[in-house]
Amino acid sequence: MKIFITGVAGFLGSHLADAMLAEGHEVIGCDNLIGGYRDNVPAEVDFYESDCNDFEKMKELLKNVDIVYHTACTAYEGLSVFSPKLVAENTYLNSVSMASAAIANNVKRFVTCSSMARYGTQEIVPFTENMICKPQDPYGISKFSAENVLRNLCEIHGMELVIAVPHNIIGPRQKYDDPFRNVASIMINLMLQGRQPIIYGDGMQKRCFSFVQDDIDCLKKLAFQDNVVGEVINIGPDEEFVTINHLAETLAKLMDFELHPIYMPGRPQEVKLATCSADKARRLLGYQTKYTLEQGLSKMIDYIRERGAKPFIYHLPIEIYSEKTPKTWSEHLF
Ligand SMILES: NC(=O)c1ccc[n+]([C@@H]2O[C@H](COP(=O)([O-])OP(=O)(O)OC[C@H]3O[C@@H](n4cnc5c(N)ncnc54)[C@H](O)[C@@H]3O)[C@@H](O)[C@H]2O)c1
Repeated sequence: MKIFITGVAGFLGSHLADAMLAEGHEVIGCDNLIGGYRDNVPAEVDFYESDCNDFEKMKELLKNVDIVYHTACTAYEGLSVFSPKLVAENTYLNSVSMASAAIANNVKRFVTCSSMARYGTQEIVPFTENMICKPQDPYGISKFSAENVLRNLCEIHGMELVIAVPHNIIGPRQKYDDPFRNVASIMINLMLQGRQPIIYGDGMQKRCFSFVQDDIDCLKKLAFQDNVVGEVINIGPDEEFVTINHLAETLAKLMDFELHPIYMPGRPQEVKLATCSADKARRLLGYQTKYTLEQGLSKMIDYIRERGAKPFIYHLPIEIYSEKTPKTWSEHLF
């Protein structure tokens, strides 16, 4: 099959490309390098440094493509409150552009990555796919709006759609010099520089992290299995819930680091308890985790250590400065 992966220089996109290539598929991909790293892209990928919002280019690149796997996004939930235009353009608008280009080329299936931000705050946890979505920030709203417009276009024009909802996936190739995203990578980069991790709020926010290799197999199956067409499926575990404080403690233990975290005021709209059910993924995709949190974190530490700790780069514009803007960003504290 010929598979087009958007965001192929990103974390999930590049791992997916490896998985598809390993199965003998032809992989072509694009990334505008607003995030990700150029050297994440596997050498065998036919790579274009292009923006999904460049519709004419996308239309040209998608010729004879069987499957589009859309991972490209500025997946910055916290930042989206302060840079909504940037995030909407690269979450909602780029999805419309890709869907339109795919339909124009008679692509068979479109797999898109949504986010657990689609659920917002719910009375009941873990979140299940059939819940009424109540996204509460521009990122979550853009993701959910993208799902809706994709569903609409796919129904009208007869393209298969699958919606993956990855959550809290960690591993090598995550951008670790990015001050706006990827809490575990940020903490490792700071600790390697001998600096204390910064924690928003009281650190009691609970998350359920999973190691990328545990999720890639499921994500890959979404491109091929018949029983997933039209479905929304959470991708990630529901077994080992940890607080952000615990994450910092575990990293400190693994890195033999004397921990005294710096606590900063919480970020607006941050969901306290965000966990997703993996029942549907178990049922439809045979989802099973193999890596413990410590094993996953150890692999990330090795990866970042090998590449070397790096200063944080404030590479994205902040559109709205106010007293609510986290000081970590407005005063470049990372
Ligand atoms: N990693 C997770 O745990 C997680 C959780 C929830 C949702 N997701 C979703 O999965 C997808 C992949 O996430 P990731 O963690 O690999 O993120 P990532 O930032 O590592 O990768 C996204 C890539 O998309 C590229 N990109 C952004 N806008 C683009 C555009 N307009 N045109 C071309 N390229 C563009 C970036 O440069 C980046 O390389 C995203 O849609 C994200 O919202 C991931």
